[in-house]
Amino acid sequence: MKLILILVAEIFLLTAIASGGDTARTMNKKLIDLPKHETLTHLRLYWHDSTGGQKPSTVRIQQPVSNSSFFGSISIMDDPLTTDVMRNSTVVGQAQGIYAGAAQGEIGFLMVMNFAFTTGKYNGSTITILGRNAALEKTREMPVVGGSGMFRFARGYVEARTKFFNLKSGVAIVEYNCYVLHY
Ligand SMILES: *[C@@H]1O[C@H](CO)[C@@H](O)[C@H](O)[C@H]1NC(C)=O
Ligand SMILES: *[C@@H]1O[C@H](CO)[C@@H](O)[C@H](O)[C@H]1NC(C)=O
Ligand SMILES: *[C@@H]1O[C@H](CO)[C@@H](O)[C@H](O)[C@H]1NC(C)=O
Repeated sequence: MKLILILVAEIFLLTAIASGGDTARTMNKKLIDLPKHETLTHLRLYWHDSTGGQKPSTVRIQQPVSNSSFFGSISIMDDPLTTDVMRNSTVVGQAQGIYAGAAQGEIGFLMVMNFAFTTGKYNGSTITILGRNAALEKTREMPVVGGSGMFRFARGYVEARTKFFNLKSGVAIVEYNCYVLHY
């Protein structure tokens, strides 16, 4: 019985390869070692953005056309992610990416960033966040659209809440609660 099942499975696999050619084929999930069940992981991280000072973590590469909404601005960040709100708490990764002023009538950034983890079991793994950040709102939800390493096949969302902001020094600290489904 078991042998027959294996043979049937083989035939299906071969058929899939034959009909899909080299471009695409239906794969057996077992071939990439996927765990049986998805995991829901909650990460609480603090995102430290600084545009001023001696060693800014973010550079603005395009000035806005409006200084009230920041519309048209583009900034590239390599911001530390820490375990607590204090800048000197443990760094667990970097938020690397771009934010751009994408709303004309209000402050609304397009965020495109990878959280690249550098410690512990997530070292070398990433999650990718792509969403709309209306930075003056108390809570902003943005989608997690993917991931790598431990976070392969990731999807989910983050909730961002500003903990500290100083326009003059250009320092912002934002709490990110990340809810990530992954294998
Ligand atoms: C925005 O502010 C900066 C610095 O004060 C100034 O140089 C720039 O001209 C302003 N831009 C606009 C579009 O008003
Ligand atoms: C972090 O900085 C705060 C104040 O700046 C200080 O009170 C605290 O002791 C520092 N913690 C560590 C672990 O250095
Ligand atoms: C994280 O991984 C890199 C590359 O494999 C390694 O060089 C580094 O020591 C690791 N860091 C920690 C804290 O484990």
